[in-house]
Amino acid sequence: MSLPKRYLITSALPYANGLKHVGHLAGAYIPADIYARYLRAQKRDVVFVCGSDEHGTAIPIQATKEGTTPRAIIDKYHEAMKQDFEDLSMSFDIYHRTSEPIHHETAQEFFTYLNDRGELETKETEQYYDEEAKTFLADRYIKGTCPNCGSDRAFGDQCENCGRTLSPDELINPVSTLSGKAPVKKKTSHWYLPLGKHEEFLREWILNEHKDDWRATVVGQCKSWIEGGLQSRAVTRDLDWGIKVPLKDAEGKVLYVWFDAPIGYISATKQWALNNGKDWEPYWNDKDTKLVHFIGKDNIVFHCIIFPIMLKLHGNILPTNVPANEFLNLEGDKMSTSRNWKLDMRDYITDFVKKENGGGQTVDMLRYYLTQIAPETKDSEFMWKGFQDAVNSELVSIFGNFVNRTWVLMHKLCGGKVPKLHEELLDDEDRKLMAEIENAKAKVENLLEEYKFRDALFEVIDLSRRGNQYMQKKEPWIVAKQLAENPEAQKSIDNTMHLCLQLSANLAILINPFLPNTAKKMIGMMKVVEKMLDWENAGKLKLLSVGYTLRAPELLFRKIEDDEIKYQVEKLKSGLVKPETTTTKVEEAKSETANLKSEIQFDDFAKIDLKVGTIVTAEKVEKADKLLKLSIDLGFETRTIVSGIALHFKPEDIVGKQVVVVANLAPRKMRGIESNGMILMAEDKEGKLHFVSPSTVINPGAGVS
Ligand code: 2FM
Ligand code: ZN
Repeated sequence: MSLPKRYLITSALPYANGLKHVGHLAGAYIPADIYARYLRAQKRDVVFVCGSDEHGTAIPIQATKEGTTPRAIIDKYHEAMKQDFEDLSMSFDIYHRTSEPIHHETAQEFFTYLNDRGELETKETEQYYDEEAKTFLADRYIKGTCPNCGSDRAFGDQCENCGRTLSPDELINPVSTLSGKAPVKKKTSHWYLPLGKHEEFLREWILNEHKDDWRATVVGQCKSWIEGGLQSRAVTRDLDWGIKVPLKDAEGKVLYVWFDAPIGYISATKQWALNNGKDWEPYWNDKDTKLVHFIGKDNIVFHCIIFPIMLKLHGNILPTNVPANEFLNLEGDKMSTSRNWKLDMRDYITDFVKKENGGGQTVDMLRYYLTQIAPETKDSEFMWKGFQDAVNSELVSIFGNFVNRTWVLMHKLCGGKVPKLHEELLDDEDRKLMAEIENAKAKVENLLEEYKFRDALFEVIDLSRRGNQYMQKKEPWIVAKQLAENPEAQKSIDNTMHLCLQLSANLAILINPFLPNTAKKMIGMMKVVEKMLDWENAGKLKLLSVGYTLRAPELLFRKIEDDEIKYQVEKLKSGLVKPETTTTKVEEAKSETANLKSEIQFDDFAKIDLKVGTIVTAEKVEKADKLLKLSIDLGFETRTIVSGIALHFKPEDIVGKQVVVVANLAPRKMRGIESNGMILMAEDKEGKLHFVSPSTVINPGAGVS
């Protein structure tokens, strides 16, 4: 089969509403980066695009939570995510943003093109409207009781408690989160993409053409969508944040975020082309382009059904593959932002990468583990102990150990130079290793071409394991002891070390797409130029020239200590929104009756309005050591409360905690910030403060009496 002329690789555009965690990294970013780096090493024409998804209700909702504007939110998180990706060696050719004018124009042109050709339908429906806020309500802005589990933490699109996908009409007692009032139904009209019209195309394209070369999980999900009956999908929304519908009489209407976001791949390519003096069009219009979308499984319907229909109607190419990953759990539980059960990329960067003295070894350690456990066929599990084992028992003890031993022995037994290969003395063991080196290229390559990144990485590590076995069999350090009586023994040492060095050079090429920082360090040790890492060099046995002087070894990976793992597990567990153990505190309080204030009547107590709240943000107050500025979700609104707890808690550790708030306390200014309430704290014998929290996670706004 002839090779595609060019490749366009995309990673899902993350919402610019918060930091992303390692589950995201494992799902849509690291595999795409490996693939793009591999293709670049093959000298193929490849463009790898990503960027921030800056529309949709997620953005204004986060702005409300943080008490700021949507614009401030996207600016903040776009920069933060871009930096995190860079810190973890993601090699996007462009990290774009959907708030850029070029994207707005591209998305509007797409809509107009489809609409002008009659490919969209308009429909009038009744939707929830907040009469006080004078706005239609996006699904996320409506809260109510879940018809499935009875929880009152259900939103118009999904129940937070049982996870069921909902429509606003299914909610019992719906309430607007903007005003706290019951919304009314009001007529509105929208544009719809009639998916049903394209059923035959989808059946043929996915269920027939791609049934064998796409992942079974992806085909399976598409099949159930197709067979479940393809409904028309609204591609516009009543919202004041997003890309305006480019039509007269469409006041207050924007493109649905899922209509505009994937078009972001096209506008990113356009911007990349502009920046580099290239033509973007063939990447989206020429059939000789291979388009591959890397995503998590929650995005399958958009990338395999909706966007391809849009691309087909617009005359663009279709994706060749959509290797979607399943989900990554963390220490036995689903990753969750609201419960703070997650490992943000930023946290890993702070705790490992920034503490390292450059070189990117801890970046590669994470890339290694996340690839080794990649949820390619089913959900998988990030365990801190597993991370430690992967680093210590594989990267350090196998790969790093082989390279290090080779370098140390080469300096000790061969004068720091690449020794000669005495072909006449090659034995079966040598020949076996040579064949394995030659075959590894095809093995790794075939697996990468099939998006089997876990298996491909395993092959590379396995080759280094073979290197250790070979060296162990040959024992050049023992052979060296015979040198005094038998100088000819040097030839055997030379052969062993020569092959170990050629194997190391091959390992650098093969590991490069996965662990680019390690490969870079290795070419430094070999004193060769980056060009040696070209994929075509893999499998070759004459990469390092005889007599060439090599540098001293550098440690490729350090061990991960037990303490580091313990710290991470404790940090994770302490950040979880979970019941506080209150029994001991209650016991202690009982014994301290001497401190009781004077008696009050029930009516006095009844005047205090206590509510459960969830801390959504926490930050230090400038020039005030003791104060933290908190925003607390009280269900009906998000409040700013300034609290004197900064000496007891780190801001990042308390986000997500549930607390009890005195909600009707008169506002008070502290350091120029208006504090609207107070949170209840218990103080132990040592003077340490503890939150007073409900014994289980409950809905914010619940009364306390
Ligand atoms: O699920 C998400 O995070 C979306 N922002 C992904 C969008 S991918 C693409 F379509 F832009
Ligand atoms: Zn529910």
